[in-house]
Amino acid sequence: MKAFVYLGPGQKELQDRPKPEITAPTDAIVKVTKTTICGTDLHVLKGDVPTCQPGRILGHEGVGIVEKTGAAVTAFKAGDRVLISCISACGKCEYCRRQMYSHCSTGGWILGNSIDGTQAEFVRIPYADTSLYPIPEGADEEALVMLSDILPTGFECGVLNGKVAPGSSVAIVGAGPIGLAALLTAQFYSPARIIMIDLDANRLEVASRFGATAAVNSGDGKAVDAVMKLTGGRGVDTAIEAVGIPATFELCQKIVGVGGTIANIGVHGTKVDLHLENLWDRNITITTRLVDTASTPMLLSVVGSHKIDPKLLITHHFKLDRILDAYETFGHAANTRALKVIIEA
Ligand SMILES: NC(=O)c1ccc[n+]([C@@H]2O[C@H](COP(=O)([O-])OP(=O)(O)OC[C@H]3O[C@@H](n4cnc5c(N)ncnc54)[C@H](O)[C@@H]3O)[C@@H](O)[C@H]2O)c1
Ligand SMILES: [Zn+2]
Ligand SMILES: [Zn+2]
Repeated sequence: MKAFVYLGPGQKELQDRPKPEITAPTDAIVKVTKTTICGTDLHVLKGDVPTCQPGRILGHEGVGIVEKTGAAVTAFKAGDRVLISCISACGKCEYCRRQMYSHCSTGGWILGNSIDGTQAEFVRIPYADTSLYPIPEGADEEALVMLSDILPTGFECGVLNGKVAPGSSVAIVGAGPIGLAALLTAQFYSPARIIMIDLDANRLEVASRFGATAAVNSGDGKAVDAVMKLTGGRGVDTAIEAVGIPATFELCQKIVGVGGTIANIGVHGTKVDLHLENLWDRNITITTRLVDTASTPMLLSVVGSHKIDPKLLITHHFKLDRILDAYETFGHAANTRALKVIIEA
């Protein structure tokens, strides 16, 4: 089968690989029909993710058709159309029993990381019963690819942890796919104000179309003033960090209002200063989270009822044999205006 393989920092190739086999009775083999690229895959290609070793097939998102199942799989059978979660969950360990699937003691984010992933014609899914979701009849499968990772991430790490509430004010720093997913799902709760902050004018324009009430380009270094002006000098109730660099987490510390919450989503590779000298008396909360995908069933039903349309995030399509072009396009988003690219196997 064709598979996109990480060969070490900066090196990647579309290779011919043997089809995966069932190795545990709880496994399923899924024929991947559509997958996509995540910002995290770019981190892997740079060598930022040491658990992902050269030779690994990348990818942790996608939809497909069950090809075969191990003897212990009871919820799925060959021919079933399925959504693949980016998080593999045994369903039985202490963390899984607390719905903290991202910390499953033998699973978590392993696909396209410590085991081969979805950017291939076939993928082995461990703990299939609790890591796959049935695709409802008539559902738009392309839209559902957005439910493998980005929608649950924006919703769980940003909106739920950030305690977005009716009439509240929200700022989202970073208008990439994750920040935009937070923007779409924040609207479940009807906040009065959603301020989107980014350096990229195109992405801010997209955010305005997706329901942001204000867009702030922080390129001029005056984002704090702009947010204070928009909130009557109070700051926001929820500041969502969706970039993953010190400057944006520090910005969140400056724009969060009294009693507010900073909900961090970004993957941080370097230390960030915490300004307790300014924040100690402001009754704020800071949260962090690795996406658990515990909200996937709820998101499936919201998308099924057309309350939100995650397809809005899809900008490009490629066949699997052109996945290197897909990476080029996704990796140069400022020029190509890419958000999510669909890869068809
Ligand atoms: N916590 C989790 O479980 C989880 C899951 C998935 C992704 N992530 C992380 O979420 C973050 C966002 O992911 P993404 O795919 O949307 O990334 P992305 O790189 O596509 O988007 C980041 C956005 O931030 C903007 N930006 C960069 N520097 C900025 C600055 N100084 N001020 C304002 N905006 C700035 C960029 O223009 C871009 O639009 C990444 O760090 C990713 O690794 C976390
Ligand atoms: Zn991802
Ligand atoms: Zn577990």
